[in-house]
Formats: sequence, C-alpha cells, structure tokens
Amino acid sequence: MGLRRRDFVKAGLAAGATALAGSGAIRGTPLPAPAPPATSGKPVRPVAICSANGLAAVERAMERLRAGEDTLDAAIAGVNLVEDDPEDITVGYGGLPNERGVVQLDSSVMHGPSRNAGAVASLENIRHPSRVAQVVMKRTDHVLLVGPGALEFARLHGFKEENLLTEKSRKIFLYWKETLSGKDDWFTSAEELEDPDLRKYIRTYGTINLNVVDTAGDLSGVTTTSGLFFKIPGRVGDSPIIGAGLYVDNDTGACGATGRGEAVILTCGSHSVVTRMAGGESPEQACLGALQKIVDWSQAPALLDADGRPNFNVKFYAVNKRGEYGSAAIWSNSRYAVHDGSEARLRDCAYLFKRA
Ligand code: GLY
Repeated sequence: MGLRRRDFVKAGLAAGATALAGSGAIRGTPLPAPAPPATSGKPVRPVAICSANGLAAVERAMERLRAGEDTLDAAIAGVNLVEDDPEDITVGYGGLPNERGVVQLDSSVMHGPSRNAGAVASLENIRHPSRVAQVVMKRTDHVLLVGPGALEFARLHGFKEENLLTEKSRKIFLYWKETLSGKDDWFTSAEELEDPDLRKYIRTYGTINLNVVDTAGDLSGVTTTSGLFFKIPGRVGDSPIIGAGLYVDNDTGACGATGRGEAVILTCGSHSVVTRMAGGESPEQACLGALQKIVDWSQAPALLDADGRPNFNVKFYAVNKRGEYGSAAIWSNSRYAVHDGSEARLRDCAYLFKRA
C-alpha cells in the first residue's frame, strides 16, 4: 500500500526525532532553543505586492484576504485575473509562444504556513498554470512537474485544455519569425512591417509575481509566466524554480522575481532576498543586495552594455512577516503594484542604475 504524504511526514519526523535524541544523548549537546517568533503577536497590516501588471490582482488578493481566505488561495485568485487576460502577452492565455509558435507556461506557488510548494514548467494548453502548481503541492509528494507529465497531471485533475495562442500573440510571433533573417524563405507584408503594434515587441521577458501577508503574519506567493518571448522549446525560466522566481519562509517573508530568469536562477534570487531579510535587512535593501549579486555575476560580454552594466532587467518584490514591503530593479523607471490595506497603487521600484 502506498504511503500518504501525511503518514510519510509523520514517519520522517519520528525517524528524525530518534536520530536527534540519539546523537544528543551520546554527545550530551543540548538542542538549540527555538527561534523567537518574528512578530509580537499583534495583528499585522495585510499586504499584497506584485509586479506592475498586477494592479487588479493585488486588489482581488486583498479582497480575498479580508474575507479570511487562505493566503495562497488569495494570491492565486489575484494572478488568475492576469492569466485570463488576453491583453497581457506575458502570462497565461494569450502569452507569447516559443520559437515554434507553441505557448509553454511556467508557474510556482509556495504556502508559508505549511512550508510547502508546487510548480509546473513547459505546461501547454492550460491557462491557469498557477492552479495546477497548487494541485501539485496539495495532491502529490512532488514539487515540480514538467512538459507532457504536467499536462497529463492537469488533465487527470479536470483542467480544461484549450489553444492559448490568441490572434494578437499569433501575429506578433509571425512578425518575429518573418523578420528574423534575410536568409530564409519567410516574408512579411509591407503593412505589417510598418505596423507599430507589431514592431514594438522586441525579444524580452514578462511575468507576474504576487506575494501576500495576512493579519496573522502568514505568507504565501505565486509566480506565473509564458517566459522568454520566442524561447527555445523546453526552456524553463526562474518562475517555476523554488528559490529563484519565488521563495516564502513563514518565519521571515516572501519574495518573487520578474525579468531575465537565467540571472535569477544562477543567484538563487528570491531565496537570497528572503535570507537577507532574515538577517535584518528591510525588504527594499534585501532586493537591492540580491540585484547587486546579479550585476556582479553577469560577466558574459553579450549580457553587458557599453559601460559594462547588465543590458537586461530583473525586479524583486518582497514583503516581510511584519507587513513591511519593498521592490527593486536593476534599472530605473520600473514599477510595482501594492495594496497595503488602504488602496491598490503603482509605485516606483528602487534601483541600482539610472536609465539615460
Ligand atoms: N522571469 C521569467 C522568465 O525568465 O521566464
């Protein structure tokens, strides 16, 4: 008979306790005292913080928190609005496809109170990868499912399959493909060449990350994306990687990322921000510190501008257990959305470098 997760966790705890008791008895080393709680027990000001494409998402997440919903359910309800929005070409339905014209979505969720997470990568045909990630967390002993396995899992759990490529994203994709090279057989029309709506989509990244804290100081977060525009099929960014595009520690805080995923993966970005907050930094200081590491680690000439600075952007969005929040980007003129219990608004991110 298979072991259910609950039994598995219990069995693991029992084994761990035996091992600890054994080693303590032999060496006579007392176990460390538990860390003091990070809040004073007073109600925390609830906060929802998100990338700038999530102004409506923080509004919805805050409504759900006020209704007493679980922090992760509230966060996911917020980003579902953007996964559903065909006008946001960086997330869910209407997201830009890979280099073969296929939309492949990445998402992760992390639930502070249960210290658990779930994620999916390269998932096709399902518009709410964040919800599938939550089912991976709740209904399996795994954290990350990818590609056809993730799709099969979603189907088995009743998710509806659909074509995620909208007319808008199909046209942007085709324009990219047809203008990629003068050495192939793909031509574009004169009208399309002049169309400013098609010309403006350079190859870049987009994502939504949303993190919340409720009045009890419980935290959760979610990140969901269609990833790098026109990516190599199967390319997975930071969004579904726990510790990179998202990290939540219910004793400390939550953080997520948007922007160049490879840089965030290489530096374990969101984990690094949460670790800095645990060390006493404010959310904004912690985001800036983790971004500085990305700058220090970006050495390939293809990633640098004429002044030796990254030619890409990364943004972090962080909130701590006391309801303090902050966001920072490598480059100025970056914004984020926040609802701090009074209203939803867009604010400027702190930054390392000012754009000319
Ligand atoms: N941060 C989104 C991605 O790199 O896919």
